Amino acid sequence: MKAHVITYGCQMNEYDTHLVESQLVSFGADMVDSVDEADFVLINTCAVRGKPVEKVRTVLGQLRKQKAQRPLVVGMMGCLAQLEEGQQMARKFEVDVLLGPGSLLDIGHALEANERFWGLQFKNELHEHIPPAPQGRLQAHLTIMRGCDHHCTYCIVPTTRGPQVSRSPDDILRELDMQLAAGVQEVTLLGQNVNAYGVDGGAKLAGYPSFAELLRMVGRSGVKRVKFTTSHPMNFTEDVAAAIGETPAICEFVHLPVQSGSDRVLRRMAREYNREKYLTHIAQIKRHIPDVVLFTDIIVGFPGETEQDFQETLSLYDEVGYDSAYMFIYSPRPGTPSYKHFQDLPRELKTERLQRLVAKQKDWSMRKNAGKVGTVQEVLFRGDAYTEGFLEGHTRGSHAIVAPKAVGADSAGIYQVRVEHATPHNLSGRILGPDGEPLPELPRFTPEAAAVTGALPMA
Ligand code: 5AD
Ligand code: SF4
Repeated sequence: MKAHVITYGCQMNEYDTHLVESQLVSFGADMVDSVDEADFVLINTCAVRGKPVEKVRTVLGQLRKQKAQRPLVVGMMGCLAQLEEGQQMARKFEVDVLLGPGSLLDIGHALEANERFWGLQFKNELHEHIPPAPQGRLQAHLTIMRGCDHHCTYCIVPTTRGPQVSRSPDDILRELDMQLAAGVQEVTLLGQNVNAYGVDGGAKLAGYPSFAELLRMVGRSGVKRVKFTTSHPMNFTEDVAAAIGETPAICEFVHLPVQSGSDRVLRRMAREYNREKYLTHIAQIKRHIPDVVLFTDIIVGFPGETEQDFQETLSLYDEVGYDSAYMFIYSPRPGTPSYKHFQDLPRELKTERLQRLVAKQKDWSMRKNAGKVGTVQEVLFRGDAYTEGFLEGHTRGSHAIVAPKAVGADSAGIYQVRVEHATPHNLSGRILGPDGEPLPELPRFTPEAAAVTGALPMA
């Protein structure tokens, strides 16, 4: 069997794709790079907003056409598969295999079945299963918990991913060891709300560390860089900020979604904190981690959001001074309380607010990034950048950064970089050698460069 997985959505989904691919390979499948080569195509779906749902609909339509022309098995996994909305689509587009986020290990049964197979139960043994570490890759994700116990009124995730289940610390550290043995240098701990790790359904699990303790354990493992995502402010404790501040391997990077700066909107979202409480967390973070890079998520145009409410989001942005933000227009999701109880605002109003917020974000990102010019940043390079002759990577604070290839630096690895230039979106700089001086750039043998350096005779 030749299999191909298309992945939409968040990092949790990327991890799940890796898990399912490892299962497919263990059942004898060859993973191929394109739909055309595959006889089994699986779409890992996202349901958090309307747009990713519509994308899946389009792809399912295309796949149904292909099915009419050649033998092809089509599967759908992930968040949308768990919802009635997704199941309706599955029926309409003749999907053969359907796996919810809690039934990924049913892929084996699905392959054995000679008929339509739908697996939608939440099974805990998922946590016992460890995918092989990604050989040769420097970065890896590590899921430490699944599901979410919060009930934000706009969010479909508690429905699609179920209640929170933390993975055992032994299980997590075992996977980390495998990743380290495979050469991983940066690990990102993943969960819908990692701060609540070890407290499932409100009850502290015996023998489980707190999230801050887990961070310290991972930080001592020998891995060079540790990041985590994502966090609900309600479960953020000062000890997490302290753990980041005092553990060298944990990156100075915090993504703390605020969603809105208005107490009235936060209440309607059922976020369980107010602006003041959120700002207290930010103050603690800044105290423990002076050079922290701060990211957030913001939803604009939540039902009932007034101009005054929106102004409070803008002023909160200034008060925190975020390095960057993921910004979304509110998208009513069937099955959520806000869909049921509140009236959606007009599209133009939401779009206009998003534009104003994006302008603010760009302004701050430009200022923050410009402040990095002249500093030395530790960069994990992944490989060649889009621009020929350059490498791309990211800093400990998750800034995208490019640098010219240099003599004595591999294309993938961790290097010190002096930042020379900034835009609102990324940084660029020069790779430094062990003596702190820039390494010589690799000569670029394009005809233009060669002509300038005189390496080729001018025509
Ligand atoms: N509409 C718009 N954005 C949403 N998010 C979650 N649900 C919705 C929705 N219904 C955003 C939140 C969350 C991020 C992952 O997606 O900001 O933090
Ligand atoms: Fe999308 Fe949320 Fe599911 Fe991730 S957890 S795939 S963001 S719906």
